[in-house]
Amino acid sequence: MAAITMSDIVKRYGDGFPAVNRVSLDVQDGEFMILVGPSGCGKSTLLRMIVGLEDITSGEMRIGDRIVNTVAPRQRNLSMVFQNYALYPHLTVFENIAFPLRLAKVPGDEVDRRVRDTAALLELTEHLDRKPAHLSGGQRQRVAMGRAIVRQADAFLFDEPLSNLDAKLRGQMRTEISRLQRRLGVTTVYVTHDQTEAMTLGDRVAVLRKGELQQVGSPRELYEQPENLFVAGFIGSPSMNFLPATPSGTELRTPLGTLRLDDQRKVDAIGDRRIVLVGIRPADFEDASLVSHGKRARGAVVRARVDVTEWLGNELYAYVPYEAPEDVAMRLRDLSRELDSDQLRTQAVVALDPSSRIHAGDDVELWVNTARLHLFDPSSGLNLTRDEDAVAALAAQSDASREAQRAAQRTETQEVPPIDPD
Ligand SMILES: Nc1ncnc2c1ncn2[C@@H]1O[C@H](COP(=O)(O)OP(=O)(O)OP(=O)(O)O)[C@@H](O)[C@H]1O
Ligand SMILES: [Mg+2]
Repeated sequence: MAAITMSDIVKRYGDGFPAVNRVSLDVQDGEFMILVGPSGCGKSTLLRMIVGLEDITSGEMRIGDRIVNTVAPRQRNLSMVFQNYALYPHLTVFENIAFPLRLAKVPGDEVDRRVRDTAALLELTEHLDRKPAHLSGGQRQRVAMGRAIVRQADAFLFDEPLSNLDAKLRGQMRTEISRLQRRLGVTTVYVTHDQTEAMTLGDRVAVLRKGELQQVGSPRELYEQPENLFVAGFIGSPSMNFLPATPSGTELRTPLGTLRLDDQRKVDAIGDRRIVLVGIRPADFEDASLVSHGKRARGAVVRARVDVTEWLGNELYAYVPYEAPEDVAMRLRDLSRELDSDQLRTQAVVALDPSSRIHAGDDVELWVNTARLHLFDPSSGLNLTRDEDAVAALAAQSDASREAQRAAQRTETQEVPPIDPD
């Protein structure tokens, strides 16, 4: 096992455009790191530079304490699973998994032991004699994974390994990968553009945009304390709503109504800006008619005309279009395009309790949890209300929970009775 340390990594392809631009990222020994971002942001390129399949234009790549910029892929001792993993159709599951060990000329009895251990871990034991054509999609995916983990690699690298699977299988495999990684405790870098995978799998998530690193943190930190408009819009589904607002003292005038800021720090953060973008997560709205008096006073109530509703059983989404000045609308459209989002930006999405009686076409009152709103600078996109104390607390909390998880894992591993050699 080894840490992966990237310093100022740049990749320029033939046309000179930086596909990866000055990325510095430390993946700790045993850590599960997610790389996420819209299509074309450089995720695969970065991963391929870690493995050695792509030259590094400039910067330094370390694995453990070794600089590997010019080290051949084979000498890096890493294992990679690709999106379009290919199994050898003429080989059995056993031989597919054994393949890297055969290449490395590992003695036969050891191949046998390692393949069987791996197959047991992935619940493939009963399929070892089959050919890939006779396996389900999920089983094939597990064979590909088996081939990657059968070697004692220093790190695992995954490039969207589940994107070819249907939703249900993805869910299952996601849980399996998570369990497997914790069990093996091997440093892992996992590329995805799936929200759920990004939020649930990793210890930390690194968000990339146009080759540049935007923010690295625990899923909670990214969700609760995004550094900028891009991360705020990318993390969370449906996306955070961004409303243009004109500040006036402690008040913000938005197209949905006036919001009062109770937190002086937020008022101060606005400075002398004449316009800001207010970020409100869909879940931070409620149907005002279902909110108690006390709670009502602790937030703001706005009036809105609901355009469409979607009742999902556990939640009710209501879509609320609003008017925005053309320059803001343009900025929001650009952001939406960049985020690969189909969410229209001059329309707020609110997630309400499913017991709400709100219907399409209604004029309604919505309650906003103003304590949780964010304010962004419309030109730089910077989050003006990021709370550094809260960030530190979240980081400490996530370190503690990771440590507890690892400790539990160690005990669990020790409790497995030794295998009797006879
Ligand atoms: N061999 C290449 N030659 C020239 N440009 C390339 C090459 N490979 C990738 N690129 C460009 O580099 C940028 C990053 O590509 P990359 O494949 O790393 O993106 P990605 O984040 O993995 O996207 P996706 O989510 O679609 O897989 C893109 O603009 C892409 O067009
Ligand atoms: Mg890719």
